Amino acid sequence: MVICHCHGISDHAIRKAIRGGASSRREIARSCKAGGACEGCAPAIDEILESQEAAENATSLPAFAGLVASTG
Ligand code: FES
Repeated sequence: MVICHCHGISDHAIRKAIRGGASSRREIARSCKAGGACEGCAPAIDEILESQEAAENATSLPAFAGLVASTG
């Protein structure tokens, strides 16, 4: 789905930028151009950033729990 209509950038491309290390709207704009013009897509980009961070935290939690169990 196209999120940034100024540059025709999809949610997939934005998620790829986040996985590549972009952690703010500015870094996403630098990486794939999304949000780098009118900023009308900023709320949608923020939503993707939050959901991606939540997904990463959810996947790292079991590893952390295993580490605590093995050391503690
Ligand atoms: S819609 Fe993304 S910068 Fe304009």
